[in-house]
Amino acid sequence: MNGVSTAMLVAAASVRDGRERGEPSAQAQLARACLERCGAGGRGLLRLVDHALGRSCLSALEALALPGLRGHYAWRKRRIAQWADRACADAAAQAVLIGAGYDGLGYGLAQRHPRLRVFELDRADTVAVKREALRSVRAHAPRLRLLATDLQRDEALGELFADPGFDPVRPTLCVAEGLLMYLPPARAQRLLGELARRLPPCSVLLATAMELRRGRARFRRERPWVRAWLRRRGEPFRWGCERDAIGAWLGACGWTLHALAEPEDSDDPDPSPGEWLFMAERATSPPR
Ligand SMILES: C[S@@+](CC[C@H](N)C(=O)[O-])C[C@H]1O[C@@H](n2cnc3c(N)ncnc32)[C@H](O)[C@@H]1O
Repeated sequence: MNGVSTAMLVAAASVRDGRERGEPSAQAQLARACLERCGAGGRGLLRLVDHALGRSCLSALEALALPGLRGHYAWRKRRIAQWADRACADAAAQAVLIGAGYDGLGYGLAQRHPRLRVFELDRADTVAVKREALRSVRAHAPRLRLLATDLQRDEALGELFADPGFDPVRPTLCVAEGLLMYLPPARAQRLLGELARRLPPCSVLLATAMELRRGRARFRRERPWVRAWLRRRGEPFRWGCERDAIGAWLGACGWTLHALAEPEDSDDPDPSPGEWLFMAERATSPPR
């Protein structure tokens, strides 16, 4: 698992889901093209996904590390795509995907919503891989902009607000999927706070945050060695939130909690709970 990041694991899950559906979606093709450009770790993951024995190994590893993780990713992505499509149909004129990784949501939204402008923010190396991957799958995405930034920096959103194609007065959909837990809590709060202050009413936030259990941010079924692996990777979960505290936490960032995806939903339960998924709207008076 050396040289494998969490963004690559999510991409490998998308490729595998695409294979199992029989006809890989554009998103799965993009995830594959990204992994092909992620060095030995990415190519190794693809070899495993592409062979029956490799897929058995991946399933065994998942059972040993975090049972149901692939199903959780699929659950999270399905819900986010539904909410995002609704936000774009309702009011959003542009979408900002923060920490977009190798995910195809931005590309998919740009395809499905012909006037939507999409901005993806991630580290420079991730953005470089994705730009090349988009070229290699011949994705025609003139309204999709990839911006390199370090979200740990105070001026992390500078590139976005300085981009000539980004209009800060238009209602915006913001997505922070599988990201906030990797930032120091104060940084995550400042990031969402800045978006709330600079974006207009009717802007929507879709985000995830780890659940806090017995004082630790973790998935409920996570085995103990996952924490050590994440730390070694430089991607520890830095904070989490109890369910009852999510509304107040968002309120302090200038957002009003609108909906929380129920992990125990009887029609569509989360196969591996521990990461809250929620929708919020910009508060009427965000903090200055
Ligand atoms: C677990 S991946 C999630 C990717 C994608 N949102 C998804 O759910 O498929 C986390 C992403 O956040 C990005 N990220 C984490 N910390 C970051 C930072 N300080 N600056 C920019 N990007 C960061 C990583 O590069 C990675 O792409």
